[in-house]
Amino acid sequence: MSNMNKKNNFTSSVSGNNLEDDFTSSIDIDKQMYEEDIIGSIAHTKMLAKQKIITEKDKEKIITGLLTIKKEISSNTFEWKSGLEDIHMNIESRLYDHIGEIAGKLHTARSRNDQVVTDVRMWTKKTCIQMISKISELQYSFVKIAEKNIDTLLPGYTHLQKGQPISLAHHFLAYYEMLKRDLNRFEQVYSSADVMILGSGALSGVSYPVDREWLAKELKFSNISNNSMDGVSDRDFIIEFINACSLLMTHLSRFSEEIIIWSSEEFQFIKISDNFSTGSSMMPQKRNPDYAELIRGKTGGVFGSLVGMFTILKGLPLTYNRDLQEDKKHLFESASTTMKCLDVADGIIKNIKINKEIMLSSAENSFILATDIADYLVKKGIPFRESYVIISNLTKELIKKNKMISSLTINDYKKYSEYFEEDILKLSLKTAIESRNSVGGTARKIVEKALIKAKKEIKVTTNNYEKN
Ligand code: ARG
Repeated sequence: MSNMNKKNNFTSSVSGNNLEDDFTSSIDIDKQMYEEDIIGSIAHTKMLAKQKIITEKDKEKIITGLLTIKKEISSNTFEWKSGLEDIHMNIESRLYDHIGEIAGKLHTARSRNDQVVTDVRMWTKKTCIQMISKISELQYSFVKIAEKNIDTLLPGYTHLQKGQPISLAHHFLAYYEMLKRDLNRFEQVYSSADVMILGSGALSGVSYPVDREWLAKELKFSNISNNSMDGVSDRDFIIEFINACSLLMTHLSRFSEEIIIWSSEEFQFIKISDNFSTGSSMMPQKRNPDYAELIRGKTGGVFGSLVGMFTILKGLPLTYNRDLQEDKKHLFESASTTMKCLDVADGIIKNIKINKEIMLSSAENSFILATDIADYLVKKGIPFRESYVIISNLTKELIKKNKMISSLTINDYKKYSEYFEEDILKLSLKTAIESRNSVGGTARKIVEKALIKAKKEIKVTTNNYEKN
């Protein structure tokens, strides 16, 4: 250990790219937020000049230098140095190359502790907006496919057993609702991240006449932090972000699971497009739902980031501790995985082939009208529990005789209850669906209303975020 320390002191700061530098360096990860770092530094410089902490001339030089660096990075000509630890040091050191000693004034009234978290907050806000737009895109795809399948009937399941008939539109709109909650969650995360920390210094504030309110406005933050110690060490918004990703991934994973089951030879409800499935290297007859499986698999990684982030935070005393450098890895990874999975889910749904006939015959060749027959007797005055037993016996006998409900005549029905009349024969998948017309039900007119509402909601969200 002492050896390692010696070597570390020897190679300290600017140069080098040895083992110890690699250990402490985060540049490979945090260079992702170079734009935020430069925007933050430019705003900070302007504030310093406005408050007469630095001169106008120095301000101009610093800003010109920072803009040159921005160009170098965006055109890939910037030379990253892991010996310089992180994005902040890489940029500041390069600023010396461009403008000399004046570069040293940039870090007046600022610490990397308040700088880094302000950058991360800007990055998180930007990413929340990207996420929201991707979620609404996927919501739109669900609405589109629902619109085309208002009259597509299939069994609805509980326990993966056929339960009651539903329309496919109703089924897909369930995903629309899940995604709506996800979208709202990212809006909340946006608000949590929308707090400006600069001016907190290393931990206790700064001894210069800084204007934090002005800086917040300049950087488009709605709030400033109230307590410098909390400001530099708070990473709750990262946990909230990864939590929102985790729930969204949970929904995408459930969708994937359904896609996998529905595309199986046993179900054949859908066919996944060749662009989103792969062949088996050994079994030529197979198409595997790999893309859906990978969404399901990658969900675990995002949960891992959530646990990782909680674990990083749980033992930290106030205020900044270097452990916090590990936050960005979890934040960036969960964001990029979740966004990729949103794109893939969107591709799957846009290119899916629905096998309407098989869905219908799966519903027909089943006992999914049993609830409706029980309800029929209830409407004639029989208590539900009693009616349930009658219909349960009826279906058991049919199963024994290998017969379907549709084979029953009025006389067969009458053997089970005298309350049955001719109109029981009119019961069908369609009438069953139409009868479920309470708010939120699967009846056509309810689904149509839900579609109209969904389209309006998507429009509002898209408009809101286009302004940003
Ligand atoms: N790279 C560091 C991080 O990501 C920046 C802050 C460093 N602060 C410090 N006191 N060493 O957290």
